[in-house]
Amino acid sequence: MLSATLRCARPVILAALLAAGPGFAADGGKIYREGGANPVAVACTSCHGADGQGLGAAGFPALAGVSAAYVAKQLADFRSGSRINPVMQPIAQALSEGEIAAVASRVSAMPGPVIKRVTRADEASGMGATLALRGAWERNIPECVACHGPGGAGVGGGFPPLAGQSPEYLAAQLNAWRQGTRKNDPNDLMGHIARGLSEEEVKAVSEYFAGLAEWRVPQ
Ligand code: HEC
Ligand code: HEC
Repeated sequence: MLSATLRCARPVILAALLAAGPGFAADGGKIYREGGANPVAVACTSCHGADGQGLGAAGFPALAGVSAAYVAKQLADFRSGSRINPVMQPIAQALSEGEIAAVASRVSAMPGPVIKRVTRADEASGMGATLALRGAWERNIPECVACHGPGGAGVGGGFPPLAGQSPEYLAAQLNAWRQGTRKNDPNDLMGHIARGLSEEEVKAVSEYFAGLAEWRVPQ
């Protein structure tokens, strides 16, 4: 009885040891290029690009240089459904925790764009620049750079880069918050801001941030 139980349990224990052993850690580069162990987790390259720069016009965001913690959080949010997207949800659900950690650290190591690091001390003319660098405090909207950092380059694992993304992707995210399909931000920080913006403002501020970055290798 006991030995039968052990025999049955052995492959499970072996699999657990293999998954935990350092020599068998998931290979982030391989997952990015070829996909995860579950075939539903298809290769990231086809949409996010070989160098992680995304395909802006199609709404595929850049991942290169984005903090690993932020990338891992977004994948967890797609899994839980607090961020709804029909393309990314099944892919995120098919990745294991170890694969998420490995692919997140791989993309964060890819070189990001060169960003013009404007701050609130800089001049702001036009609707996009004004929102980005001054905010609209009469509507409780802080300037975007207060959280997203100079030039919208991103700060740590909590505040993602805006510069380097396409205007289409940035606007799609602001609209997702306006429409309630993205609810993964702490304390409704972004939901509150996005709902306070007009359609024209969403477009202007998205174009403004997209214009602050230049990728070293042409997209
Ligand atoms: C078939 C196309 C496709 C494939 C393949 C794909 N993605 Fe995505 N990914 C998208 C789209 C589209 C979005 C934007 C979703 C949205 O609008 O919320 C996205 C968004 C993301 C985001 C959120 C980025 C941000 O700035 O918030 C992460 C992280 C991500 N993908 C990681 C991956 C990883 C890792 C893989 C490979 C295992 C992968 N994706 C494969 C299309 C794809
Ligand atoms: C009070 C802090 C704060 C301010 C001010 C702020 N944001 Fe954010 N923003 C966040 C946080 C936090 C997230 C990440 C939410 C999450 O965890 O998914 C975020 C995410 C985003 C994203 C999604 C990026 C991606 O790749 O997933 C966009 C787009 C965005 N913000 C645009 C803006 C714009 C435009 C402004 C100015 C009008 C702005 N934000 C001001 C805190 C802020």
